[in-house]
Amino acid sequence: MLNFEFCRPTKYVLSRFAENQVGSLITGLGYKKIMLVYGCGSCVRSGLLDKVLDLLEQAKIEVITLGGVKPNPRADLVYNGIELGRRNKVEFILAIGGGSVIDTAKAIALGIPDDGDFFDFYLKKRKPKTALKTGVILTLPASGSEGSTNSVIQKEIDGRVFKESCVSNLNLPAFALLNPELTFTLSEYQTACGVFDMMCHILERYFTNTQDVTVSDRLCEALLLSIIESAMIVYDDPENYEARANLMWAGTLAHNDLCGVGREQDWASHYLEHQLSALYDIPHGAGLSVIFPAWMDFTYKHDVMRFAQFANRIFGCAMNFYDPESTARAGIMSLRNFARNLGLPLNFEELGAHASDIPLLLNMLGVDDVNKSQGSFMILHRRDCEQIYRNAALFDPKALSV
Ligand code: NZQ
Ligand code: ZN
Repeated sequence: MLNFEFCRPTKYVLSRFAENQVGSLITGLGYKKIMLVYGCGSCVRSGLLDKVLDLLEQAKIEVITLGGVKPNPRADLVYNGIELGRRNKVEFILAIGGGSVIDTAKAIALGIPDDGDFFDFYLKKRKPKTALKTGVILTLPASGSEGSTNSVIQKEIDGRVFKESCVSNLNLPAFALLNPELTFTLSEYQTACGVFDMMCHILERYFTNTQDVTVSDRLCEALLLSIIESAMIVYDDPENYEARANLMWAGTLAHNDLCGVGREQDWASHYLEHQLSALYDIPHGAGLSVIFPAWMDFTYKHDVMRFAQFANRIFGCAMNFYDPESTARAGIMSLRNFARNLGLPLNFEELGAHASDIPLLLNMLGVDDVNKSQGSFMILHRRDCEQIYRNAALFDPKALSV
């Protein structure tokens, strides 16, 4: 196991009506004037926005609202939010929504006290030194942003789209309010995208070169098994509180790094996917259901026994000690079968992507064949990433029945 330090100051509250605590938590932190960030209307339609505005008024908290965050959130709204926040001297940013809203709130919180361009942090030109505090009312378990050090924002610069991450402990929310009932309104497809995303947050950590990480291996496996079990219940019964609660908590634990500390992590699939969601404006989880198995096809021979362990422990594939590669391949196929059962895409055509765009995707990814690479489980240069995109483009779903 690698050495690590781990501190998560975020207060998690999971309960029916968890959002009722929003006023007392913010006043408890000493803030009186906040910005409330939300998306394109789901929290308006559900009545959640009005409810939260009432709760904040009762707590005598002044609120500036900023709605309209789109999935795959854009920098433009962040710039507006920074300007609005500075003009109104807001002290705290509250997000109501999923990853896109939370990441926008985090970016605004980084930008308000900073003199330069907030996107410099995402382009890794500078590191943030300070930020306003954020809080979250989560409505979509998927990104894990409610407990992660990460924020992902998209910006077009000179005709090229950059979907980039800023990783900093300053991004950790002060609190995350998790009411599973708020997720009952999610569509089957959005739920599925969230399920696949949280599974990939675990798998990016699970496929590692670090040896002797039994505790985090087993944590990863417990979460993966719980997610699969809960997802199948929710698929049949979308208003099953207990299954929704388990998905919500699993989504947070999948990405707050509890199961990632002490081990090398990969993340190549996420970078490969970010180019797809940036180019085609598709849900991140749908992009991952195409990319992650394609990455597995390309990398499993690097550590066949780890892939065979995944197949055996997660999908119950029989361990073939004479031919562990066959077990490893069965595990990859089981993951694709699971994605298919959730109604997720498995190749470029189903995703609405085009193989002819692969050179463009590789340019956006910024890899070459010498210095610039992705991943750590296997170091992937441009030709490797190209092969993974091709695997993803050409996968034939008919292979699933074999
Ligand atoms: O905008 P509204 O109207 O709220 O609708 C949203 C949106 O259309 C809808 N939605 C959210 N809660 C709902 C609901 N619809 C009905 N009922 C509810 N309760 O869902 C749609 C998708 O929302 P979005 O926030 O985009 O989805 P998600 O949570 O999957 O976040 C995706 C973004 O997070 C980034 C992704 O790249 C993508 O940009 N990620 C962020 C990470 C992080 N900060 O740690 C890590 C992830 O790997 C990921 O990259
Ligand atoms: Zn993700």
